[in-house]
Amino acid sequence: MAIPPGEEILIISHLDADGLSAGSLMLQALLRSGASPQLRIVKQLDEEVVKEVSQSKLRFIVFTDMGSGQKSLLKNIGDRTLVVVDHHPPEQVETDLLELNPHLFGFDGSTDLSAAGTAYLLAVKMNKANRSLIPLAIVGALGDVQDKGERGTLIGINTRIVEEAEKEGVLIVKKGLKLYGFESRPLAQCLAYTMEPYLPGLSGDEGACYKLIKGLGIDPRKPDGSWRSQADLSREELRTIINGVIKYLISQGLSSRDAESVIGAIYIFTKEAADSPLRDAREFSSSINACGRLGRYGLGVSICLGDRDNALAEFKAVLQEYRRTISGYLSWLHNNKDAVKILPHVQAIYGGTQVDEKMIGTLVSIAFPSKPFTMDRPIVGFAMSSGVMKVSARGTADLVRRGLNLGRVMKEAAERLGGTGGGHNIAAGAQIPLGKEDEFLSLAESLISKTMVGVKL
Ligand code: C5P
Ligand code: C5P
Repeated sequence: MAIPPGEEILIISHLDADGLSAGSLMLQALLRSGASPQLRIVKQLDEEVVKEVSQSKLRFIVFTDMGSGQKSLLKNIGDRTLVVVDHHPPEQVETDLLELNPHLFGFDGSTDLSAAGTAYLLAVKMNKANRSLIPLAIVGALGDVQDKGERGTLIGINTRIVEEAEKEGVLIVKKGLKLYGFESRPLAQCLAYTMEPYLPGLSGDEGACYKLIKGLGIDPRKPDGSWRSQADLSREELRTIINGVIKYLISQGLSSRDAESVIGAIYIFTKEAADSPLRDAREFSSSINACGRLGRYGLGVSICLGDRDNALAEFKAVLQEYRRTISGYLSWLHNNKDAVKILPHVQAIYGGTQVDEKMIGTLVSIAFPSKPFTMDRPIVGFAMSSGVMKVSARGTADLVRRGLNLGRVMKEAAERLGGTGGGHNIAAGAQIPLGKEDEFLSLAESLISKTMVGVKL
């Protein structure tokens, strides 16, 4: 398909790390092709977005990180050229839209390729110069937790992208503690800055991290008073730190398997400064996710497009706000036992008006591995959205292996209550009518109990 020069094109993408990366990739690729694209970031693809698009005069609309699961909804958009670049399971509906999705080629979009990876492959087909955007394909995959290989490695088509980035000299993959900036930052800082996995009692609290390191008998400073990083540790000290962090996580309620998963592949962008939140690919991803979740879409996109100087300073302030917001939610959760409900096959956080709808997905992901929740059943979170209840659900690779498909559970339970839902087997969501949370949870409980095998509860 040829794009007329100067053609105004609307790109619509999702607010999380993968959505921001995929949208930015398409924006840059279309700019380079001579078109005049604009990028709009949305919380979800719903009737409101469809109405807005239907009213616009633009002839070309590109959806990234959304659309495949909502093809019947997209049918309501009038006479336009619609392009979908997505990795969600495609809805089996006949349409004339142009769709690029790893599922259509026999790959699993939850693990093998993200929306950003899909957009990257398309961008390189459009113009080889778009190879420079390869870091965003990795950021998107890590944002969608596609590092499901042994020791936290990326798998599927993502492996090819990783190899290409290594060859281009923009990426190094190492083994280490999956803490943000483990390779370059002072120890206490890299523990405190890590948000995913969330380290209960350590994330966001440099003082507590300093105490933990001291308590392990390791001096966090060099004799000249400057901070020590991983490179300054002896092998023995490094082992002590690794064991200390794992033990600490187990003491906070994580299973030994989950705690040990903190050791694994770390992805480092060689062209970013050593102290930058963009050097460690997981931190890059979690940081732009923070921009999305706090509604700072423009900033997230600027960073993806390569803005550094001023944008980076603003970015660091947003990260601080994000850490504060999460620890606020966690203490709210800790003090509000009524907000938690644990059923035999599903558990839930009732966020109501207390949790921002853009943050509920992050909160359930973070709260999932620690008490009072268990990782032997999926977790669902509710938060009030405008006129509806937003639902975010998360599972584990193990639950998926035993038959869990949260995308289907969300779709079926939501539709029975007059709402909509969908997503991946491991991470999904829904919008349901207000006041239907208990009913929705019972439906989810029954659907999950029927599909899961080998559940010993
Ligand atoms: O729309 P999209 O597919 O990009 O969103 C998936 C969401 O689910 C992301 O925000 C991602 O971080 C989250 N996720 C998760 N745990 C997984 C897989 C995805 O929290 N195992
Ligand atoms: O919003 P949240 O991060 O919880 O979404 C998890 C996944 O479920 C995302 O991939 C999102 O695109 C998908 N989802 C969906 N349909 C909905 C709500 C969420 O496909 N109605």
